[in-house]
Amino acid sequence: MKKRLFLTATAVAVAALGATSAMAQADTFKIGLILPLTGQQASTGKQIEAATRLYMAQNGVNMAGKKIELIIKDDGGIPDASKRIAQELVVNDKVNVLAGFGLTPIALAVAPIATQSKTPQVIMAAATSIITEASPYIIRTSFTIPQSAVAMADWAPKNGIKKVVTLVSDYGPGIDAERFFKDRLTFNGGQVIESLRVPLRGPDFAPFLQKVRDIKPDALFVFVPSGAGAAVMKQFLERGMDKAGIKLIGTGDLTDDDQLNDMGDGALNVVTSHHYSAAHPSALNKKFVDAFEKANKGLRPNFMAVGGYDGMRVIYEALRATKGAGGGDALLAAMKGQIFESPRGPMFIDAQTRDVVHNMYLRKVEKKDGKLYNVEFDVIKDMKDPGKTR
Ligand code: PHB
Repeated sequence: MKKRLFLTATAVAVAALGATSAMAQADTFKIGLILPLTGQQASTGKQIEAATRLYMAQNGVNMAGKKIELIIKDDGGIPDASKRIAQELVVNDKVNVLAGFGLTPIALAVAPIATQSKTPQVIMAAATSIITEASPYIIRTSFTIPQSAVAMADWAPKNGIKKVVTLVSDYGPGIDAERFFKDRLTFNGGQVIESLRVPLRGPDFAPFLQKVRDIKPDALFVFVPSGAGAAVMKQFLERGMDKAGIKLIGTGDLTDDDQLNDMGDGALNVVTSHHYSAAHPSALNKKFVDAFEKANKGLRPNFMAVGGYDGMRVIYEALRATKGAGGGDALLAAMKGQIFESPRGPMFIDAQTRDVVHNMYLRKVEKKDGKLYNVEFDVIKDMKDPGKTR
């Protein structure tokens, strides 16, 4: 009898405990943020972490009766690690949303987990066109490489650049950059006379740049992922390629705001195309840059930070719209079609493609108040991903 009573009491206690943790669970909205905080892509992780924390500091952690909790995990930039972490976040932590994804192979590795668990996957960094097609639960707030590459291929031939060599990192976004730049440049009457690919991990640009110097094109078009631009710039200048009359152009990853001010005056006048510059002249962006620098010991936000900041906006607003009652499908539906002003300019999540539609800017490196910035001088408005319309 005693034993039975004890067992019953224990069962009640366990049930009560379960109920409490279930209530805590129900009152919490969890965002699992997977970032490369170590390794070659660590600057991307640092920028996105800082931006998401800033968004939460500015907007609070209470929304629709929920307390928003950010669970940050470091994947070191390794797809297998991301996959394992995503599984743990979904199964053990029961996150409502997966976010981050510093590299294309990482976004692709996690996509099946998003699909199986019906968890929205918000891509804040990776930029290969195909990513959004890897899962119907993917939404992208970063950008697509074809957007940048096509904008540059439209600008270059109108500005005396006809013969170009391309130099890209040998993986998803680099292949996109090479292909979309070449197709559009050719369409516009220009010519890619050589296409060079460098390894993603630990690249040595020297032999490739020497080859370009020998070929002597009008311009060298470069895509390397955020964090690698300064090395390209340094070696380009050390070889005197600018003095030899070879122009340096690329997607905005090359003159990354995270590194630009340390690249030196040799970077002046380099023209790139991109969706975000820390110098974007809007009141909202000025406020964003000031707040970001203040919260991060003067660190300048780059396009990765903006992808993270806008990703948080999309998640917060989906939570608000679903009044805290939504599962993955309802959240996803509330993410599609969001339209708002980002620090980058106007931005829209296309409900059909779940991809970002935004302005592409042509920018030239100039000195402002003694610092190097990408100064916007032209714009292609509301650009969809060219990879979706082929
Ligand atoms: C990507 O892996 O998709 C990627 C990473 C860094 C960039 C752009 C694209 O700057």
